[in-house]
Amino acid sequence: MKQPLRVGVAGATGVVGLEMLSVMSERAFPAESVRAMASGRGDVRTVPFGSRDLPVEELTADALLGLDMVLFATGASVSREFVPLAVANGAVAIDNSRAFRMEDGVPLVVPEVNAKAVSRQTGIIANPNCSTIQMVLVLKPLQDVAGIKRVVVSTYQSVSGTGKAAVEELREQSGSALVGEAIISRVYPHPIAFNCIPHIDVIDEDGNTREETKMILETRKILELPELPVTATCVRVPVFHSHALALCVELDSELSPDDARRVLGGFPGVRILDDASDAVYPTQLSSSGTDETWVGRIRRDTSVTNGLWMWVVADNLRKGAALNAVQIAELLLD
Ligand SMILES: NC(=O)c1ccc[n+]([C@@H]2O[C@H](COP(=O)([O-])OP(=O)(O)OC[C@H]3O[C@@H](n4cnc5c(N)ncnc54)[C@H](OP(=O)(O)O)[C@@H]3O)[C@@H](O)[C@H]2O)c1
Repeated sequence: MKQPLRVGVAGATGVVGLEMLSVMSERAFPAESVRAMASGRGDVRTVPFGSRDLPVEELTADALLGLDMVLFATGASVSREFVPLAVANGAVAIDNSRAFRMEDGVPLVVPEVNAKAVSRQTGIIANPNCSTIQMVLVLKPLQDVAGIKRVVVSTYQSVSGTGKAAVEELREQSGSALVGEAIISRVYPHPIAFNCIPHIDVIDEDGNTREETKMILETRKILELPELPVTATCVRVPVFHSHALALCVELDSELSPDDARRVLGGFPGVRILDDASDAVYPTQLSSSGTDETWVGRIRRDTSVTNGLWMWVVADNLRKGAALNAVQIAELLLD
């Protein structure tokens, strides 16, 4: 795409949209103009972009005219309505919602893993689910050196993964709980303060949650391994930022923990922090605000042949959403 670009950010007042503006500014994305759009019902009138404040416009069909690229940080139903309009107006759309991820012909991209898929785009490129992004960053190098036979993952996902209303809910409930006031739940089915909820998104017919199904299907699509056995339990935890995964990978061939550290540490975007005897491993607090996917607690899983356990942590708003979307946008530049 010719630069500089006229860029729109839809959902600019949400936690992902605000982070997108921040990442674009930090990385000096070559934009001639940036327009911020949201529902028109919110009370936020401007959003920060570098040293400037951008006015927030209402997302309408007309607002999408005259743009080369639109980054969508909206929910699936809003994306389903407006992404095709943006594309019909000549823009490329990079969508963070689940709306188009599994559609044939829509690349689902993590640049370090499958950048080439972008060349197949016909207007829409999908950004994967946040937990899936940090998982495939670890699975890809392991697949390349040793082959993957089966993946078992449990997630520990922060409330910012649900959006701005959930961040507020954890803040309010924590305050209420500490002073013995009644706890009011609006976003989650149970209190999230001082609690863990094994239920993210709706429950599918097979008993998995949609979040768990996303991790299974999106991983297979990104890695181009349509039969890969993957099983997941996704849990919301009372943490503001960053998701953690307890990841168990059964490999086709033997890979020692030391070799796994070397392989993973050499992969772009992945960093090893692993000296458990000295309490060195990533945590959600230590990874928040960073761009990397951090891996620690790498050890053998002796319950299977060629098994490895590891602990994988990344900032869901950065690599899990905004940064990944901006990296996709960068792949489209001439
Ligand atoms: N949070 C994460 O870690 C994460 C990671 C990966 C993917 N995602 C996906 O990214 C998308 C955004 O998530 P989020 O966490 O940023 O949610 P959020 O904080 O709730 O923000 C939602 C945004 O959508 C806007 N919006 C709502 N209804 C709209 C409408 N009818 N027309 C135009 N804009 C509308 C909101 O604007 P108002 O302020 O005007 O209401 C707000 O800017 C979702 O699809 C989510 O699944 C999120």
